[in-house]
Amino acid sequence: MRVCVVGQGGREHAFAETLRRTADVVVTPGNPGIEGSVVTPPSEIDADLFVIGPEGPLADGLADRLRADGRLVFGPGADGAALEGSKAWMKEVVSAAGVPTAGYQTFDGDPASCRQAHAYLETLSPPYVIKTSGLAAGKGVLVTDELAEAHADVDVKLDGTAFGDAGRRIVIEEGLTGPEVSLFAVCDGKRAVLLPTAVRDHKRLGDGGLGPNTGGMGCVSPLADVDRAVCSDLGALAFEPTLAELNRRGVDYRGVLYAGFMLTPRGPRLLEFNVRFGDPEAQVTLPRIRGDLAELLAAAAAGEAADCIDVSDDVMVCVVCAAEGYPSDPRTGDLITGIEAARALPGVTVFCAGVERAADASLPSDSLVTAGGRVLNVCGRGPDVATARKRAYEAVGSVSWPGMIYRTDIAAAASPRVSRT
Ligand code: AMP
Ligand code: GLY
Repeated sequence: MRVCVVGQGGREHAFAETLRRTADVVVTPGNPGIEGSVVTPPSEIDADLFVIGPEGPLADGLADRLRADGRLVFGPGADGAALEGSKAWMKEVVSAAGVPTAGYQTFDGDPASCRQAHAYLETLSPPYVIKTSGLAAGKGVLVTDELAEAHADVDVKLDGTAFGDAGRRIVIEEGLTGPEVSLFAVCDGKRAVLLPTAVRDHKRLGDGGLGPNTGGMGCVSPLADVDRAVCSDLGALAFEPTLAELNRRGVDYRGVLYAGFMLTPRGPRLLEFNVRFGDPEAQVTLPRIRGDLAELLAAAAAGEAADCIDVSDDVMVCVVCAAEGYPSDPRTGDLITGIEAARALPGVTVFCAGVERAADASLPSDSLVTAGGRVLNVCGRGPDVATARKRAYEAVGSVSWPGMIYRTDIAAAASPRVSRT
C-alpha cells in the first residue's frame, strides 16, 4: 500500500515512521528530517490512502475534496472537523449526546450578548474559563482565578482584538479542577474504536507547569494512574455517544477523535475534542500500536474499522526541544547537532518538527537548522516510566543548538491513582 501523510511536524514524522513498517510512505509537505517528504500537493499524489495530520487542512475541507476525487482518506470532512473548529458547536453536540462536560454558555460580539457574558461570569466561581470558539492554534483558552482578568479577556476576545474573527464568538465554562488525560479513538463513520492507552501532555513552557501555554512541551503514555479499565470507561462515556450524535446530524466521521478529559472530584468531564492526533501525543502513541497501522487506518477510512486496536504497554516519554523565544517568537536558523548520536542510543527515537535544510554550502548536505518553535521531539521507550524517561533525557543531552530549551520534568510527577468507578 502507498500512503500519503499530509502535514509537516513531529506528529507526521511519527505517522510516517510507523506506517513505513508495512507501507510505502510519502509525506507532503513534510520537512527535510522526514524521509519521503515531497513538495507535490496532495491532490497530485497517487496514493491508496491519505492520512491528514493537522486540523487546519481538515477544517478547510481537504478530506472532502480528496474524497470527491475518489480517494480513500483517514480524516474527517469539514463538517466533522467543526468539533475542533467551533467549540460552541462541540459543546452543543456533546451536550445533546449526554457526555459529561463543564456547564457553559456561548456569546458573540453584539453589545447585548457581551453584557450577558459579563453577567454570566459574575454567577461563576473561580477558576474562570473563557475560550474562543474558533481555531486559535491552542492559544484561545484563558483559565484564571482573577475575575477582573476574566472580564477583560471577554472584551478583547469579543471585540476581535485578541483573535480576530475566531475570537468573536466565545464559550464561557464552569471552571473544573483535577488531573487531565487524553484518549484517542479511530472512527469509521459508525463506530469509534478506542486506543486503550492514556496520554498526558505538559502544556506549559516551564518546569512545574509555569510560564506560557504552548502546543505541548512533552508527554508520556501509558499513565500509571489511568489503567486500561479506566480508559475504556472514559472512552465509552465520550466516543460512542458522540459518534451516534454525529450520525444523527448526518456527519460521517472517519478519522481520529482526540478527547481531553479532566478527572474532577465529581467524576470525569470532557474538556475538548480535537479531530486529529495530538502533537506530541501521537509521538508516544503511534509507535506503540501493534499490527499494521496502514491497514488499520485504511479500514477505518473505508467504513470498516477493526473491532479492537492493540497497543503495547511499553512506556514512551517525549521531550520537546524548542527554539529560544518559543512560543511567542522562536529564533530560527541555528545549526542542529547530535540527532544521529541520539538515535544510536537504545530505545530512542527522534522526530523532526521545526527543521529545514542548512543553506550554508560548507556544511554537510544533510545538515539541519531550526525553522520553527518546536524543533525536535526526543522520545525514550522502555518497560517503565523511569527507564523511558532516562532514555529520553540521555538523548536530549546528545542534541543541541544555540538557545535550545526543554522542560526537565516531563513524566516526573507522581500522579494520583484513579480507580474505576
Ligand atoms: P481546551 O483547548 O478546551 O482543552 O482547553 C485548554 C486547557 O484549558 C485544558 O487542557 C485545561 O487545562 C484548561 N481548561 C479547559 N476547560 C477547562 C475548564 N472547564 N475548567 C478548567 N480548566 C479548563
Ligand atoms: N498537544 C496538544 C494538541 O495537540 O492539541
